[in-house]
Amino acid sequence: ARITYLEPDGKRHELDVPDGWSVMEGAINNDIDGIVAQCGGECSCATCHVYVVSGEVGEPAEDEQDMLELVAAERKPSSRLSCQLTVGPELEGLVVQIPDTQY
Ligand code: FES
Repeated sequence: ARITYLEPDGKRHELDVPDGWSVMEGAINNDIDGIVAQCGGECSCATCHVYVVSGEVGEPAEDEQDMLELVAAERKPSSRLSCQLTVGPELEGLVVQIPDTQY
């Protein structure tokens, strides 16, 4: 699906991320700075935090909610851990903003 990553300085990366990957993996595999993903997608580091700008992503699971308490940047209602967002047709056109504290 087509996923757009916005960097804090306004740089825009529009990528075709294969279904089944996480939004985090789409960033890591395309060298997008700002998504660190220290834990490798285990939902235990909170360094893959993004803000969902537009797109239907549903509600975070409980373990994701818990990790969202620990994000370095401001937590907003749109905060998600990108490793917990699995790419598929329903995420087509998703836009995420990367917080500036992850640089
Ligand atoms: Fe560690 Fe997402 S990569 S919580």
